[in-house]
Amino acid sequence: MTEPNRVREEKLLAKIAAGGKIETVEEMSDEYRGLLTNLMMMQADSELAGAFGYVPWIAKCPDIKETLQVAQIVKDEVRHARVMYRLLEGVGVDVDDYYRKHNFNLRVETEDIGTLRAADDKRVNIFYYPIEVWADFIMFNFCMDRGAGHQLEDNLDCSYKPWCDGMEGIFKEEEMHMAHGDQWTKRLSEDPKTHDEIQAAFDKWYPRTMNIFGRANSPKNVLYRKYGLKRRDNDEVRRAFAADVAAKAGKFGLKVPAWTPVEAKMSEEPFIPG
Ligand SMILES: [Fe+2]
Ligand SMILES: [Fe+2]
Repeated sequence: MTEPNRVREEKLLAKIAAGGKIETVEEMSDEYRGLLTNLMMMQADSELAGAFGYVPWIAKCPDIKETLQVAQIVKDEVRHARVMYRLLEGVGVDVDDYYRKHNFNLRVETEDIGTLRAADDKRVNIFYYPIEVWADFIMFNFCMDRGAGHQLEDNLDCSYKPWCDGMEGIFKEEEMHMAHGDQWTKRLSEDPKTHDEIQAAFDKWYPRTMNIFGRANSPKNVLYRKYGLKRRDNDEVRRAFAADVAAKAGKFGLKVPAWTPVEAKMSEEPFIPG
């Protein structure tokens, strides 16, 4: 028989406080399961929407080498989504039903949607923006995959063991996407013919990425940390990302665009991956 929620909650918090990890649904309190489901759904939907946004670029790459590269990235993102949806099935989500009811191909045409959701899926809202030119694709790798990498660091060692296990492979592949972005950013920035174009794409995607991390000291983040589902404050993750980007941009001859925290434009919750 399942223990009352209060008992499960006490045991779960004690286990997490002692550095232990949760491995089964039976161990979860209702609160933990709800927060975990929410975070994993954000990742799953973002991975899938990310993959679909990349798909047209398989056929629009500058050369055949890149065609294979982009096809591989699409396959990686679909795999990440599949890993996450399987974890969601494990905590009781009817994934087939959810998949049928949402349009992960949906994109917006607005330049700045702030915190608005264009639909009722849970993707981080940067994934509603279309990738219009090759420099966008590259900047998505350079900024968003890097931002996701910083976010995912916390999930590598979160309190839900099956998620940590799944994250190991995902994290390695995200690092390859980021390296792809870095190589191309350097190349496009150093070529006088494409420098302005990649700087313009940087100006567009950097602020959007800075907004994904969520507000500093958000109550939701405090809750995630209480349950070991996050390790750092949203702003700490954002600062780590910004420092990383600034170092790379400096090397590649790009100017980091201005960004000011506009609370109204920042998502309540941090996102996860790309
Ligand atoms: Fe991914
Ligand atoms: Fe990625």
